[in-house]
Amino acid sequence: MSISLKPVRMAIALSGRGSNASAILQAVQRQALTSVQPVAIVSNRDNAVGLRLADEYNLEQAVFAQSQYGSLDKRDEALAVWLNEHDIDVLVLAGYNRILTESFFNAYFKPVLNIHPSVLPKFGGKGMVGLAVHQAVIDAAETESGCTVHQVELAVDAGQILGQAIVPVYPDDTADTLAARVLAQEHRLYGRVLQEVGLALHHGYSLKSVQPIKRSTVPVS
Ligand code: GRF
Repeated sequence: MSISLKPVRMAIALSGRGSNASAILQAVQRQALTSVQPVAIVSNRDNAVGLRLADEYNLEQAVFAQSQYGSLDKRDEALAVWLNEHDIDVLVLAGYNRILTESFFNAYFKPVLNIHPSVLPKFGGKGMVGLAVHQAVIDAAETESGCTVHQVELAVDAGQILGQAIVPVYPDDTADTLAARVLAQEHRLYGRVLQEVGLALHHGYSLKSVQPIKRSTVPVS
């Protein structure tokens, strides 16, 4: 008797342009990412540019703005309820600009992943977002930077690391040039990590079983 395993249903949360979400959905489309099934795009902003991906890929979409709910806790609880109702097995943060509160984690018990544009644990934590991360890397005279996919917990940027990619930092880099080099790697890394995560969840394993994609050396562009 063959046992048919449930597909791993994925929702992507974003607040902005959604280039990582787009890269993930493209990877699914070209069958480089086969272990997860994209179901929904969710956002805290009804004007997030990336929400258009829901129409483009025929996915569910939902917006959870704080103004609708009155408090962060209520908003996060509503998001968790919605994810549970839609049977979402993994939530993928891709440029979601809010820190998920305890109310969220008290109601949603499945894995949540995030991508951060530095080699954690360096240059992570509260306030380390956007160009501030890359400027901090340059100010610290680092010779390499990169990105990290990690599991999300209450503590910011602190969950299990599932994959990292490295890029060089050049002496004439600005925060913008470094951000662009790192972003190109984010687009490759997230899909690769999701493939491993999807396979583990598909077979009922916890993410502890996922071998991290480690500090892969990438061609210098
Ligand atoms: C990325 O740099 C990601 O590392 C960070 O937010 C940015 C989102 O960019 N968490 P995009 O919306 O995916 O283009």
